[in-house]
Formats: sequence, C-alpha cells, structure tokens
Amino acid sequence: MHEKIIIDCDPGQDDAVALFLAMASPDELDILGITTVAGNVPLELTQRNARIICDIAGNHDLSVYAGCSRPMLLDLVTAENVHGMSGLDGVDIYEPIRTIKKTHAIDFIVETLKAASDNSITLVPTGPLTNIAMAMIKEPSISKNIKQIVLMGGAMQEGGNLSPSAEFNILVDPHAAHVVFDSGLPIIVMSLDVTHQVLTTKERVAKIRKINNPVAQATVGMLQFFARYDSAKYGFDGAPLHDPCTIAWLLKPDLFQGKPCHVSIETGSKLTMGHTAVDFWGVTNAMPNVTWMHTVDADGFYVLLTDRLRNFS
Ligand code: RIB
Ligand code: CA
Repeated sequence: MHEKIIIDCDPGQDDAVALFLAMASPDELDILGITTVAGNVPLELTQRNARIICDIAGNHDLSVYAGCSRPMLLDLVTAENVHGMSGLDGVDIYEPIRTIKKTHAIDFIVETLKAASDNSITLVPTGPLTNIAMAMIKEPSISKNIKQIVLMGGAMQEGGNLSPSAEFNILVDPHAAHVVFDSGLPIIVMSLDVTHQVLTTKERVAKIRKINNPVAQATVGMLQFFARYDSAKYGFDGAPLHDPCTIAWLLKPDLFQGKPCHVSIETGSKLTMGHTAVDFWGVTNAMPNVTWMHTVDADGFYVLLTDRLRNFS
C-alpha cells in the first residue's frame, strides 16, 4: 500500500531518524512534504534541522515548511537539555543551501489536503500538535481527506517525561492535542509506553555503525548524543527511540499491538497539564477515539530500521 504522508516534526535527533526511515522507504511511502513546528528547539532551528536532515539523506526533492513558532495558548517550552542547543547535536550543523518554503506549514497542510481525495492522506506528527490543530481549525473541511493520524505522544504506564504526568509533545501544546484527539479521525498513538521498549542499545547502534553510508553514520552520531540524557536519567542501555515508531508502524504494523481506547487531554490542571487520561480498561462509557499502542517487537523494529538505513548506500 503506497501511503501519501505529511511528516510534521520538531527535529530533534529522533525526528531525524524517523525522517531517514521514511525517506528510505519510497516503495511504501510518498512523502508529500515536511512541516516543522517549535518543540525540542525553537522553530528557526527545527526548520533548519529538517533541511540538514534532507541534505544528509541526499534528498533534493523534498520541500520543508516552517509552521507555528509557539503553542496555541501556552508559552513555548523547549528541550535543549535532551537534544543540545542545536536540537541536532551529534551531526555537523550548518545553514543548508536549500531554503525553507515561503508557504506557511499550516497553509501547505490545508492546500495539500483540500486538493486530495477522500481519506487519502496520512499525517505523521512527531512533535507538538500545534500545526495539525491549527490547520484543522483554519479549514475544518480538510478532515474528510485525512486517512489517519499516526502520532508520537502521550503516556499511560510510563507516566510522563517533561512532567511526572505528561509527555513532552502533548504537554508543550495540550490545547492542540485536545483538538486533534477530539477530531473523530482515526488516530494511532505511539506513546512512551511503546517507545520506551525500543532502546538504542550499544549492540543495536554497533550494527548501524557497520553501515558505510552518510545517513547511517549520522544516525550513530545523533544517537550517541541523544542517548546520554535518557540513559543517565533512567539507567537504560541507550535511549527510547520515540519518533521512528510512527514510520515503522506504517511500514510494518505487525510489529506493534494496540487497543481502541478513549483518551482525554488535561488542559485545566497546572499540576497535570498535558496528561493523557487513557481509559484502557473501559471504565467510562466514552467511545474510543484512538488506537493506543502498547507493545512492540523491539528487535523487529531495529531489524527494519537497520535494513532501511542500508538503502542509502
Ligand atoms: O517525548 C518524546 C517526544 O518529544 C519526541 O517526539 C521527541 O522528539 C520530543 O519531541
Ligand atoms: Ca519529536
């Protein structure tokens, strides 16, 4: 099945690996464009980083768009402590020749979806959901042309990472998350519950290091930097490789197991802002609004990722 996708991201080393995995899979994925949002680092850096990632991949066709520079209501919170001041520490940072598109990311999303046929476009957000929510608000009619949303965000078993009860992408813009989760669209959620099962262990990184191409070597450099924070925080061998889980699901859904659940987003409490309240056991009579992924074949995930990284040789 050839999926038409838009990746909305905040690179971020793990966003970068998700982009590499998608670009390595042209037989399955048709990337219509990359839109960027403020998140891990401010927008001027996430949009630059997305262009660096395309350069490393040798991809000169993909267009990169800049979107919202802040959440809908809250002040922007960034994560340089995790991703470094550049947001892409681990690779050389420079201003790419390829320029950012003049069209705003929201307008690119809206115009692309308006021109598409019914239920034909998959949105893959791997950062805060500001661009996605604002596109839906600007032009509600686009929803009929969205096939599904495959997003990284939220937590149930894992509690949270930016706060004790909320995951970064959702907490940075909980109001945008509320709009998306209440959209009624098919949503696949790759939360920390799943991403914490796919750790960048030394053994897995060593296999990627053996691949002699610029993308694999850039991946190793980024993962070595990216892993230092979470391995110190959690005592893991490596770090959870969050964002590529979205692309891996599109490529090999059988690697994952999930369950239809109703999920609400906390937007009132200062203490638990951005919390994903997952009715996993159906204790309310709320109809499920997402598929909450809870299990992944981690070895199978890394076999897929490592095999696809060889495609850049
Ligand atoms: O909580 C992990 C998520 O926040 C990932 O998408 C990471 O890139 C950051 O955006
Ligand atoms: Ca991200």
